[in-house]
Amino acid sequence: NSHIAVAIDGPAASGKSTVAKTLAKRLGLIMVNTGAMYRAVAWATIQHGVDPSDSAAVVAMLDEVEFSCGVSNNLSTVLVDGVDPGDALRQDAVNSRVSKVAAIPEVRSLLVEMQRDYLKLGSVVMEGRDIGSVVFPNTPFKMYIDASEEVRRKRRAAEGIIDDPTARDKEDSKRKSSPLVVAEGAVKIDSSELGIEEVVDAALEVLRERG
Ligand code: C5P
Repeated sequence: NSHIAVAIDGPAASGKSTVAKTLAKRLGLIMVNTGAMYRAVAWATIQHGVDPSDSAAVVAMLDEVEFSCGVSNNLSTVLVDGVDPGDALRQDAVNSRVSKVAAIPEVRSLLVEMQRDYLKLGSVVMEGRDIGSVVFPNTPFKMYIDASEEVRRKRRAAEGIIDDPTARDKEDSKRKSSPLVVAEGAVKIDSSELGIEEVVDAALEVLRERG
C-alpha cells in the first residue's frame, strides 16, 4: 500500500517520544510508541507473577495473555487482556523488568508483527529501538535521536521518574536479538543542545530531503 513509515530510534530519554508525537501531529500521522508494547509485556509479568529473566515462563505467558494494539486520537494504544495499564507502564517495577522481556526473541517477533500491522491503518511515525533496523528496514525515513548521558539523566529526573536510562541502554545495546543500533541509512540527530522545535525541524528536513 501507499502508507509510509517514519522510523525514529534512539536510547531512553533522548527526546524521541516528544519529537515523534509532535511530528505525527504536525503531519497528521499515527504515532506508535513501541516501548509501551514492551512495557505492557513487562507489566503482565508482574500481574502474573512471572520472573522476567525466565524466558520459557515469559514465552508461556504469551500464550495465556492477550496483547492487542489499537489507535485512539492518532496515538497507539495497548491492551493486556482488554485492560489499558495506563500510567502503570511507567512504574519503577516496569522500568527494571522491561529490558529483560525485550531481549526475548519470541516477545520481539510477536510485537514486531503487531507494529508492522499499523501500516494497514495508515501512515505512521513509529518510535523505538529497532524500527529502522528491523521493523521497517526499507523505509527511507529513518532517524536516530541521541543525547548525552548527562542530558538524558537530567531529563528523567525532571520528569520525576526513578529510572536509570543508561542501565537500560546498556542492556538494550548488548542483547543478541535486535539490539539498539543506528540503522543503516538513518540520519543521526543529537538533541543535547536542541529544543524540541529544533529537533522537529531537523526531522522535517530529513523527510523533505528523502520524500
Ligand atoms: O521507549 P521506552 O523507554 O518506553 O522503551 C522501554 C524498553 O522497551 C526499552 O528500554 C527496551 O528494552 C524496549 N524496547 C525495545 N524495542 C523497541 C522499543 C522498546 O526493545 N522498539
